[in-house]
Amino acid sequence: MNEQTRIAPNNLEAFWMPFSANRQFKQAPRMFVAAKDMHYTTSDGRQVLDGTAGLWCVNAGHCRPKITEAIQRQAAELDYAPAFQMGHPKAFELASRLATIAPEGLDHVFFTNSGSESVETALKIALAYHRAKGDGARFRLIGRERGYHGVNFGGISVGGIVGNRKMFGTLLTGVDHMRHTHDPERNPYSKGETEHGVDLAEDLVRIATLHDPSTIAAVIVEPVAGSTGVLPPPKGYLKRLREICDQHGILLIFDEVITGYGRMGTAFAADYFGVTPDIMITAKGLTNGVIPMGAVFASGKIHDAFMSGPEHLIEFAHGYTYSGNPIAAAAGLATMETYLEEGLFERAKALEPVWADAIHSLKGTRHVIDIRTIGLIGAIELEPMKGEPTKRAFAAFVKAFEEGLLIRTTGDIIALSPPLMVSEDQIGEVVETLRRILQTLE
Ligand SMILES: Cc1ncc(COP(=O)(O)O)c(C=O)c1O
Repeated sequence: MNEQTRIAPNNLEAFWMPFSANRQFKQAPRMFVAAKDMHYTTSDGRQVLDGTAGLWCVNAGHCRPKITEAIQRQAAELDYAPAFQMGHPKAFELASRLATIAPEGLDHVFFTNSGSESVETALKIALAYHRAKGDGARFRLIGRERGYHGVNFGGISVGGIVGNRKMFGTLLTGVDHMRHTHDPERNPYSKGETEHGVDLAEDLVRIATLHDPSTIAAVIVEPVAGSTGVLPPPKGYLKRLREICDQHGILLIFDEVITGYGRMGTAFAADYFGVTPDIMITAKGLTNGVIPMGAVFASGKIHDAFMSGPEHLIEFAHGYTYSGNPIAAAAGLATMETYLEEGLFERAKALEPVWADAIHSLKGTRHVIDIRTIGLIGAIELEPMKGEPTKRAFAAFVKAFEEGLLIRTTGDIIALSPPLMVSEDQIGEVVETLRRILQTLE
């Protein structure tokens, strides 16, 4: 290696950025170099208010001391322990801690490194559970249109976002999809669960009848679909899915990667809606986004079905080198402590009506055609530019960044999900910045 290659120039070319317009970015890079609490600092020294908790993950706010210190301490004490056939105390402690805040009955935790890995893990647990019980005929997985379950093959197979699927061949077989629940004509400008659409849960009956219910292993849904533009469920919809699953021996999987850890003002969306799944997928807010980690929760019934056969044999042939990594586990424990000490879930709950009123005050603003809020989540749907879908929302994203606000866009929808420490003044700032920007957009 010569001197020139060792001291690499800060060239933007080598890094192939994920889910990004690489060429556009590299012409006018948007770089963060620091963060604290509710703000990022840009490379040109500006403060940017975080309207999205990073990518729906920094629920406690940025660079929180307890989490930072826990990571530093753990890195110096035990950096890595093999994840297979060996253990370390913090992974067990975190799993126990998580089981205490999980909906009742979801008392076993399998660690992964991301939402996508948690999805694959949950689907595999569901399939293997039926096999372990001697019911291997249950091989089908049912997802939903507009669902987002990460980017791995299982997740894009049960997911329902065409753009994320169309380039990648045949995907998993034995998958079917229910219709999505987005119906802005019947549910315009909604706060909380929508009024109309409980009937859409009957899609599961239709699909089960078509394939024979005894061939279906599991149904997977996001309690609130996030990445596809914030689609709250219709009133009674999730309860009805639960009933249908119970009736036919189908497992219900909730993907709570964005709704988990306080985003809804409750620990999980399962608590918010009063519906408990058999398997619950989480990641993001588990470590406040600081270190990659995911956790899949399973009921005792599911876990125990695997615990048979000779005791020296591995019961579930699945896991990752970094499952329950010590530094991630330390971050997870410190994150849970921060949530608890600062009462952040309760804070989100108290803010929900304030948030909803503030975001809905944008009704009537130029380009706005629908608004949806639930928990500390908001979506502002814009009228697409003629013949150029997504362009207007992307312009809003760039302009907001220039004006000191981080938002997220998906299609022509602006999605908002601030850290749970957001103040009422900062909510006002988010709304007024957006109001100003939308007036000026083409
Ligand atoms: C509902 C849902 N599932 C899965 C994922 C994938 O998570 P990750 O990007 O950590 O793989 C996401 C990410 O946004 C998500 O929103």
